[in-house]
Amino acid sequence: MLLADFGRDLTGADRCTVWLCNEKDGTLWTRVAHGLDRYPIPKTKGIAGWVATHGEALIINDPYNDERFDKDVDKQTGYRTRSILSLPIRDADGRTVGVYQAVNKITGSFSAPDMEHLLLASTYTAEVLKTAQAQEEIEATQREIIFTMAEAGEMRSKETGQHVKRVAEYCRLFGEKYGLSETETEVLKLSSPMHDIGKIAIPDSILLKPAKLNEAEWLVMKTHSTLGHDMLRYSDRRLLRSAAIIAWQHHEKWNGTGYPCGLAGEKIHIYGRITALADVFDALASDRPYKKAWELDPIVKLFETERGAHFDPDLARIFLENVDAFVKIRNTYKDEAEKPAAPSSCPEH
Ligand code: C2E
Ligand code: SIN
Ligand code: SIN
Ligand code: FE
Ligand code: FE
Repeated sequence: MLLADFGRDLTGADRCTVWLCNEKDGTLWTRVAHGLDRYPIPKTKGIAGWVATHGEALIINDPYNDERFDKDVDKQTGYRTRSILSLPIRDADGRTVGVYQAVNKITGSFSAPDMEHLLLASTYTAEVLKTAQAQEEIEATQREIIFTMAEAGEMRSKETGQHVKRVAEYCRLFGEKYGLSETETEVLKLSSPMHDIGKIAIPDSILLKPAKLNEAEWLVMKTHSTLGHDMLRYSDRRLLRSAAIIAWQHHEKWNGTGYPCGLAGEKIHIYGRITALADVFDALASDRPYKKAWELDPIVKLFETERGAHFDPDLARIFLENVDAFVKIRNTYKDEAEKPAAPSSCPEH
């Protein structure tokens, strides 16, 4: 949006759009346009498409008499395009990575000095875009690492990979209903699958015990929350920082009787409070090595009982008001049928 504002002010245009080339599907798309939402167009379409394809700048002060102009955009938006200044955004290697397009010069028509100004701005734009794309790469990598690590953790405890998907979806639903922003909800959804990553360091004899843990075993088991936090705490990355908080706090309880720190109420981060409900619901609604899945009725009763005790009362209310939506997620990401018990190091053939 800053770049669009910048281009608009530089050229005295009514609005300005930064189009980006998507090499994968051959479209141009924009998210930051005055008066347009994210709006993909084929790379061959319209003035912007022509500029992206030919890599040349254009000034058009009579677009309705230019066959390259795409009148459909105006038709859809009810906007009347009178003049266009459009030029390619090039990366350091000279490849066209986008199009900078100013529309409707306020004081008449675009001219060569406007083009020079926008050209200068586009050099700067290319730099900013490069940084933004590198950032997106890093975040995509983080998402992949988090999901893969979370699945690896669950594989060891023989909970299927579906568990981490369900917890992510429950957390997203809680985030939305609770009123977290879109970004906060997304961060929560992407990092919550890591809540039990510390179980990686818990011995099989405890983790997979098909019975109730004794006191000594329970003490070891409880360390999975701080272990997970210790694994993740040194990262500066937003998703991993959030995962560290969730690993640490997902067994804290609203009334202060949880572990590892006995935090109470809003001292527990909202991500930790939400993941607590998502985790318990999923644990109760699925088979575990140490117990069978519960029916829905006793699960609902437990959430009523624990409202304000184990669980944040607001979140428990959200759960109780939306049980159907939670059950729907559970059914969408069902555990696969149990695999044969005998483990084999050789693939079957
Ligand atoms: P988990 O299986 O993912 O369970 C997560 C949380 O769901 C539990 O946290 C607990 O709050 C709730 N939960 C699970 N099953 C039940 C249940 O039958 N009744 C009730 N009221 N709540 C239930 P918690 O207790 O802190 O346990 C953390 C983890 O420790 C569990 O994660 C599981 O991996 C392990 N664990 C807990 N109890 C046992 C056990 O008796 N045997 C074995 N082998 N592991 C256990
Ligand atoms: C075009 O590039 O032909 C129209 C797009 C616009 O109005 O911004
Ligand atoms: C194996 O190496 O997988 C066992 C040999 C066989 O059963 O064919
Ligand atoms: Fe846990
Ligand atoms: Fe869990």
